[in-house]
Formats: sequence, structure tokens, C-alpha cells
Amino acid sequence: MTPKHWTQWAQDFDNHVTDAFSADFNGVIQKAMDKLHNARRKRLFVDFGCGSGSFVLAQAKKFDRCVGIDSSAGMIELAKRKARRVKNVEFVCESIQGYDDSRVTNAGLVACFNVITATSRSVRDKVWRRIGGMLARDGVALVVCPSLESVQMVTAACKAKSLEPTRHMRRGGVVVTEGVSQQFFTAESLVAELKANGLKSFLLEKVPYKWPHEGLDGRVMRGVEYPWDWLVGVRRVK
Ligand SMILES: C[S@@+](CC[C@H](N)C(=O)[O-])C[C@H]1O[C@@H](n2cnc3c(N)ncnc32)[C@H](O)[C@@H]1O
Repeated sequence: MTPKHWTQWAQDFDNHVTDAFSADFNGVIQKAMDKLHNARRKRLFVDFGCGSGSFVLAQAKKFDRCVGIDSSAGMIELAKRKARRVKNVEFVCESIQGYDDSRVTNAGLVACFNVITATSRSVRDKVWRRIGGMLARDGVALVVCPSLESVQMVTAACKAKSLEPTRHMRRGGVVVTEGVSQQFFTAESLVAELKANGLKSFLLEKVPYKWPHEGLDGRVMRGVEYPWDWLVGVRRVK
């Protein structure tokens, strides 16, 4: 997915409520934020790959200063429009890999939801390292990544119900959805990738979402566990 691609999507993004935070009907992400934000309210909060800015705007009252970064000009334009009256939030159009602004360091809390999905390991490594580089020594990041175990579970459930799954698994955790290839993670592969990039996890939780986000009918899938993303809490190793 290129920045242009996301810009084409920007207007529809809010209408279709595809952001991770809104899809989290159990409030798993907000509960994790609530546990972490108090000790960090005077610190910088960064949302990497902020999309149309809904999450950073929803959290803005809890922090002195917030920055939302996204490589899509359309998403940032939409975010800025929504934030006209909000004083402590800044939106920046930049690629995460390229973003090296010395004003955005020492962050107390970084969010990065459904952004680290590039099938290229070297691209993902750059993003993980950028997150690590932005965190203060005692800073933490909350990262949402797509779950491969969830796709395996949903594929098996579809097979049992003689339904065509909406996602197709390829080698090495790559999953194709409507022609778009993205990296999905098992809990194990996620922890290993963090470790290889000088990071460690202190929390790993499922964030269930409803069937329409999977392109499936909830009535047909009744009785099957909801699909989920992984929420991982991340610290720097040193
Ligand atoms: C699936 S959307 C997620 C948006 C938001 N985090 C959410 O949960 O709703 C992915 C977003 O990440 C942005 N993005 C993807 N790769 C990026 C990169 N390398 N640098 C900055 N933004 C990126 C896209 O432009 C898009 O807005």
C-alpha cells in the first residue's frame, strides 16, 4: 500500500470506521492506554501512521503534547481539518522510515496501529528501529499488528462452513486480502522481530473485532471466536 493509495482512501476511512481503535469493541486498547498514560501525561505522545487522526485526537486531553505522523497527504489533510480547535496536537506528513525530526524524540508513549504490515523485512525493521529511536529510556509503545493465528482460525471456520475465506495465506506469514499482500504475525514471530530490533514486549493481548471487518457476515459466523489483531506493549531493551 503506497501513500497515494491511502490518500484515495482518506475520505472513506472515517465513514467505514476501519481504524483499529473504533473496531476494538471490547476497549482493549483504551484499557492499555489508561494503565500507561498517567505516568506519562507530561510527556510527548506520538501516533505513528495516525491515519485520519481519530486516535491521537481521542487521547489529546491526556497529554501535554501530541504528534500524529502519516505518509499519506490525504489522511493528514483530513486529520488537520478535524483538529482545527485542538491546541496541543500537531500533524506531520512524513514516512515513518524517513522521519528523523529531533523535536520528536524522548517520547513517553508511542502508538502504531496496523502500520507495520510491509512484506519486506527490511522495511519493517526500519519502522521498529524508528519507534525504538523515538522512545525515551522509560518510554513505551503500543503496537497493533495483524494476527496470523486469527487468519488460520477464520480459514478453518470458513472451510467447516463451506465458505470462501476473504484472506489467503502465503508463505512466511504473508496474507493476501483483496489482492493486497501484507505481513501477518504469530505471537512468536512478533516477539522475535521485536528482539531482533532491540525491543522487548511487556504485554501481548488479543484485540477482537467484528465479522464485517473481516468481510464476513456475523450471522453466518455465529458461534465462532471473533477474529483479532495483536496488541503488543513494547519497551527498548536498554
Ligand atoms: C491501516 S491504516 C491505520 C491508521 C491508524 N493507525 C488506525 O489504526 O486507524 C495505515 C496508515 O499507516 C500509514 N502508513 C503506512 N506506512 C507508513 C509509513 N511508512 N510512514 C508513515 N505512515 C505510514 C498509511 O498512510 C495509513 O494511514
